[in-house]
Amino acid sequence: MAQVIAIANQKGGVGKTTTAVNLSASLARMHQRVLLIDCDPQGNASSGLGVRLQPDDPSFYTFLTDDGAPPPFHKPLPPPLDLTLIPSCATLAAAEWDLFSRDHAETLLSRKIHPLKDRFTHILLDCPPSLGLLTVNGLTAAQSVLIPLQCEYYALEGLTLLLDTIRKIRMRFNPDLAIEGILVTMFDRRNNLAHQVVNEIRKHLQFRVFETFIPRNVRLSESPSHGLPALLYDPGCAGAKAYLSLASEILTNGGT
Ligand SMILES: Nc1ncnc2c1ncn2[C@@H]1O[C@H](COP(=O)(O)OP(=O)(O)O)[C@@H](O)[C@H]1O
Ligand SMILES: [Mg+2]
Repeated sequence: MAQVIAIANQKGGVGKTTTAVNLSASLARMHQRVLLIDCDPQGNASSGLGVRLQPDDPSFYTFLTDDGAPPPFHKPLPPPLDLTLIPSCATLAAAEWDLFSRDHAETLLSRKIHPLKDRFTHILLDCPPSLGLLTVNGLTAAQSVLIPLQCEYYALEGLTLLLDTIRKIRMRFNPDLAIEGILVTMFDRRNNLAHQVVNEIRKHLQFRVFETFIPRNVRLSESPSHGLPALLYDPGCAGAKAYLSLASEILTNGGT
């Protein structure tokens, strides 16, 4: 049965999509069967893997709403990397409003994912930068949430809001939702603030901070424009190595 991990933080630009793409590719490199679902209307995970949809193409939105149709699977990476993508595109932005009118709108994704679980070892959900209905769907469908955090002054305030949302999701839709861990992203070892934020989290919060810190690495920001994860764009770069190390932490600790 697949381990379903939502990658969420309502703050934009903290490294959710970079993590979704590079962690998916790294797990695939470690012989896992990975499904990445791009739940963000901005479609960055899709374009970052070289998949650009036309407005009428089947997408994450049709996957959520169209009962009968097969899931719109894409295979963006060359074999043997077993990565499947359900891509997104901008029509989802308008469609988020349509979702509200549906019965049990918060559990749509959870119900859609269920029959796919025995086909994959990991299902990763790249959530949008909001706590709206799409993120609620992601958190409701997941077993755990991985929280990318850029260590800066306001990071902890944002974290409180996210933890509050997670508590509400547990009460209403998904009692077993666990916190996979906090992932420090865009880490600059010369910056003392980053160390302070990590210490604060360790002191005040019970859950895991991944041993792997993702360094600020220009290769990670360049690779999406080539439609590639860093491990194919520049396998030796620090960013690619960091995401491989994160993948092994998840494989070691996350066995479900
Ligand atoms: N570790 C990193 N080093 C350098 N640039 C990064 C890193 N992680 C993300 N970025 C860049 O920062 C921007 C925001 O990252 P992204 O993953 O899209 O965040 P989010 O999905 O949370 O909005 C992107 O331009 C991305 O390429
Ligand atoms: Mg994103």
